[in-house]
Amino acid sequence: MRWRCWNSKTPARERVSSDLNETTKEIHVTSASRSLAEAAERIIPGGVNSATRSIGAPWAFASAHGATLTDLDGNRYTDYHAAFGAILLGHGDERVNSAITAAIQDLDLVGLGTTELEVRTAELVIDAIPSADMVISTMSGSEAVLQAIRLARGATNRPYVVKFQGCFHGSYDAIARNVISSPDLAWRRDPNSSGILDDALDHTLIAEFNDLASVEELFAAHPDEIAAVILEPVPHNVGALLPELAFLQGLRDLTTKHGSVLIFDEVITGFRHARGGYQEICGVIPDLTTFGKSMGNGYPVAGLAGAAEIMRNFTPTGGKVMLAGTFNGNSVSMAAAIATLTVLNDPEVDFYGHVYRLGDRMRDGLRRITNGHGIPAVITGIGSVFIAYFLDGEVRGYRDLLRNDDEAYATFHRRMIDKGSLMYPMSLKRNHISLAHTDADIDRTLEQADEVLGAMARAGEFSLLRESA
Ligand SMILES: Cc1ncc(COP(=O)(O)O)c(C=O)c1O
Repeated sequence: MRWRCWNSKTPARERVSSDLNETTKEIHVTSASRSLAEAAERIIPGGVNSATRSIGAPWAFASAHGATLTDLDGNRYTDYHAAFGAILLGHGDERVNSAITAAIQDLDLVGLGTTELEVRTAELVIDAIPSADMVISTMSGSEAVLQAIRLARGATNRPYVVKFQGCFHGSYDAIARNVISSPDLAWRRDPNSSGILDDALDHTLIAEFNDLASVEELFAAHPDEIAAVILEPVPHNVGALLPELAFLQGLRDLTTKHGSVLIFDEVITGFRHARGGYQEICGVIPDLTTFGKSMGNGYPVAGLAGAAEIMRNFTPTGGKVMLAGTFNGNSVSMAAAIATLTVLNDPEVDFYGHVYRLGDRMRDGLRRITNGHGIPAVITGIGSVFIAYFLDGEVRGYRDLLRNDDEAYATFHRRMIDKGSLMYPMSLKRNHISLAHTDADIDRTLEQADEVLGAMARAGEFSLLRESA
């Protein structure tokens, strides 16, 4: 069985030719897209600036507007990838773009003191996120996580961090392990990259999501040594594992009892599921919160917020934890964040009402379709995020996701791209709905899904159906 994703060691040429064999039925990705990709491959490793962008056809894009992407050959796709969730309002949102244009008339980057844009951004974040007394701006989620973990270690003077199998927190060494692990490596040592020092990996301990006992065991094995527990409150990097309230509350109680810092990594969930992130929904308030992605609707901005007592450990307040970043708080990022958060706050726009309603429409439709074709599936997600796992039984943690039919999942998404709905063609990857999506988009995608899933069921492409035949 091909495991979940293209291994980064698979040569680009092999990936492309294999993908070519799989592509296109309705959509025809041809010369223009392919030749730009070839030019890129000659000078950029694998032709992409982030490994997960290597998806085969369509290889290159010309424009992005609203919910629609257009590739270099003129094919149009309804975008459910949304730049891995960085797009919340739709591509090229005029409110965001004009706010940026206005801001840069006066200020680009000063790199000294502060600006009104930085203070306004911090005010909006503090107003939205329950755990935020103080906030810093960074350029990426990885930097926000780096700052959070270093701050937790600096504040507690302890070495270990606990993370969960399946959660992803960016590229920082201390946390770059055990995301989509194969069954033999899950909960064991599974670095995301070579080149990370053993010490960095060994000081990150792995627990199972929704399983408080697995965290209690780690606290028992490392008394007074755990600086922080970090989690995606909804692990969206493996689709959507929905958290049990008792689990989140249990983490809050355990970390408080042991003097550790509880970090919610809300880089995906923040601003997307509620203004205040998932913590607003569940009522469990962490010590630190990282956020990013969608807060700038596609422009680079992220940050870290938290209790003043911990945040005061940064050097500008006389603490010992370094705070640095040339581009932090630049005008483009700040203007993008202010404009995006202002739209989210606007009751007339009703962002949350819109994406939750369309998300339910999509999930209900997919449930009807999979039931109708007799396909064993768990259709899940929250608000704007939807996914279809192809497995029997319930999904609580990573353990359950090992039963997912990865081949069928990736095939479903790949064939949806061929029909014009861009869903990331790798197992466990989630789909996003933005403010720019419409009922008509959802209904068209559901019609396509009905055709694709019906054909797959008839062709016996679901392993569970083959087993029961
Ligand atoms: C939950 C989470 N945290 C952190 C990151 C890292 O963010 P960035 O890619 O902006 O560095 C990601 C990226 O996907 C993420 O999903």
